[in-house]
Amino acid sequence: MPAPALPLPDPPLVHPTAGVRLRPWVEGDARALATAWADPSLAAVADVPAACSEADAEAWIAGGPARRAAGVAIDLVVAGMDDDTVRGEVGLVVRDPVRRWAELGFWVAPAFRGTGLATAAVGLVSDWALGPSLGFGQVYARVHRDNAAAEGVLAACGFERRGQAEGSHVVWRRRDA
Ligand SMILES: CC(C)(COP(=O)(O)OP(=O)(O)OC[C@H]1O[C@@H](n2cnc3c(N)ncnc32)[C@H](O)[C@@H]1OP(=O)(O)O)[C@@H](O)C(=O)NCCC(=O)NCCS
Repeated sequence: MPAPALPLPDPPLVHPTAGVRLRPWVEGDARALATAWADPSLAAVADVPAACSEADAEAWIAGGPARRAAGVAIDLVVAGMDDDTVRGEVGLVVRDPVRRWAELGFWVAPAFRGTGLATAAVGLVSDWALGPSLGFGQVYARVHRDNAAAEGVLAACGFERRGQAEGSHVVWRRRDA
């Protein structure tokens, strides 16, 4: 049975207090995305594509609707309430369509870190994923064990630390209520 398509959040997910709005990626974001992928602080801890030129970013963005339609993944830009600038990214990859388990990924561009954007974005997406619109049973993240900032984000969003995954990563998970 094919996995159900992943819809875009409607209405869009917003956190006015934190100044966060999650929006779909658009073609014009390719340069910002390639810049983020090339940042060593991101590549050190996150799954960044090996090919990360602006053309690669354009191709990845162009593939987003097909990934959603196939129920594989959804990726959203962390933008400002009234400003489309790419401040970060938050996404879900469906790892088990039967049990409805999704893996969460997120990053915030260095210039925007430390102001609560990741906590707001991860809170919005995990509430949405575990709520009635998407109905996931579990959302989890694999975090490098030295990544205190990511652990802070996940703890603040109600995830619990489940222990060692492969290599130097730790799994954090949140389940439906
Ligand atoms: C992890 C990351 C997304 C955090 O983004 P952010 O917008 O700065 O996070 P927030 O401002 O919401 O802060 C989250 C918490 O982490 C804490 N924190 C931030 N940077 C920290 C650091 N270097 N060391 C320890 N704690 C840190 C904050 O104080 C905050 O905790 P608090 O709410 O108790 O004060 C960002 O550092 C990043 O993109 N890192 C590289 C990619 C990455 O690690 N992604 C996660 C992969 S699983």
